[in-house]
Amino acid sequence: MVLEAPVRLNLNMVDLADPDMHMRYGQHDLFRLLRREAPVHWNDANEVYAPFWSLTKYDDVMQVSRNPQLWSSEQGISIIPRVMDEAAANLNSFGRMLIVMDPPRHVRLRRLVNKGFTPRAVAMLAPEIKRITNEILDGIAARGSADFVVDVAAQLPLAVICSMMGVPRKDWDLMFQLTNKVLGATDEEYQTDLPEGMVRGSDDASRHTGQVGFLTMLQYFGQTLQELRGGRRGEDITSILIDAEVDGEKLSDDEILFFCFLLIVAGNETTRNAISGGLLAFSENPGEQARLLADPSLMDSAVEEVLRWVSPVTHMTRVATADTQIRGQKIAAGEQVAMWYPSVNRDEDIFADPYRFDIGRTPNEHLAFGIGEHFCLGAGFARLELKVMYEELFARFPDIEVTGPVERLRSNFIGGIKHLPVGFAAR
Ligand code: HEM
Repeated sequence: MVLEAPVRLNLNMVDLADPDMHMRYGQHDLFRLLRREAPVHWNDANEVYAPFWSLTKYDDVMQVSRNPQLWSSEQGISIIPRVMDEAAANLNSFGRMLIVMDPPRHVRLRRLVNKGFTPRAVAMLAPEIKRITNEILDGIAARGSADFVVDVAAQLPLAVICSMMGVPRKDWDLMFQLTNKVLGATDEEYQTDLPEGMVRGSDDASRHTGQVGFLTMLQYFGQTLQELRGGRRGEDITSILIDAEVDGEKLSDDEILFFCFLLIVAGNETTRNAISGGLLAFSENPGEQARLLADPSLMDSAVEEVLRWVSPVTHMTRVATADTQIRGQKIAAGEQVAMWYPSVNRDEDIFADPYRFDIGRTPNEHLAFGIGEHFCLGAGFARLELKVMYEELFARFPDIEVTGPVERLRSNFIGGIKHLPVGFAAR
């Protein structure tokens, strides 16, 4: 048997905009190299994506996230294509969504929508989250095997977010498919129903797929909004937002519509991948799974370690509003920086033994949810979903393990798993 020599990575090979690069090499080998040799790295090698600075150190990401005056979100929160066509402009929705707004507009909108995300709102949904989780697990219990992503991990966030937003059950699958199209646009699996002549796997197919997901979802919520304005109100967030007021101000239709889109997209894939990535981590570290089973009081810190370990959002970006510098590197006004969360969450200067999955890790001030002005609004829900899922899953299937190949999502934005075969004793 001829063994291939391991690839020796060097800085000339690094292109974090290339989705294949995240799959081809151990992503963490790339990040370790950048942290060590070029913590502020100019990534200009990609033909499709415009150049940007990669930030891979914890302190730099903290500094940028906490200064929205200098580091703006309004020009998009992911790395952007060189050619800003209609599809790309739509998906980035510059300035129109909470996540792509700067103060003071951001502060005003966040105060308005915050109502649905208080610790109290999260606690109120706890029994429902437990019920949904057990319904999902009932569905696989007799089989002894499952595709953990599709059958389990994807189902919980989908059900939670759709229930919160009053999306009727018959449309949940549509929401699943549309989220996959928006956030998995660069993955061939979700590039379905392409116009004639368009080739799967091409950049055109990626753009088209994202655009279809975006427009269909906006159309869907546009219809819902019309019905709600017509009088059919409920207890859901969308209904609450219509009536929400701060200092006599209400949300415009556009603000509600884009917020609905953001919630569906932000709440689904992220939590799904944290749940599946966490199960994979437990499967690869059976000692930690046994430790949790023996001491369930470790659950809260286990959830934090899963979030640190998986860091499902790979990056968010900011654009410099003035000439500045980071670590002595000059950055010009208008240039974009990408903050790579999987890297900062393994930063040796912050985390002791960062490559060890340790469910008792304290302190664990990871940045998987970002930090500062745009800190994840849904973090409370995500944490609760992870906790309830692992509590119920391990109580019912303590022997659950990964049994087949892990199929990863082709993306430079979401560290995702598409399929994860698991086995357990059927009940
Ligand atoms: C493990 C799951 C999740 C992860 C890793 C995650 C990650 C993130 C990150 C990194 C940001 C910061 C954006 C920035 O600084 O530019 C963010 C913002 C946001 N997330 Fe999450 N998220 C998760 C779950 C959720 C859920 C369940 C919801 C909704 C229920 C949600 C809704 C949002 C919203 C609305 C924002 C924008 C907040 C703002 O701009 O003020 N996320 N999320």
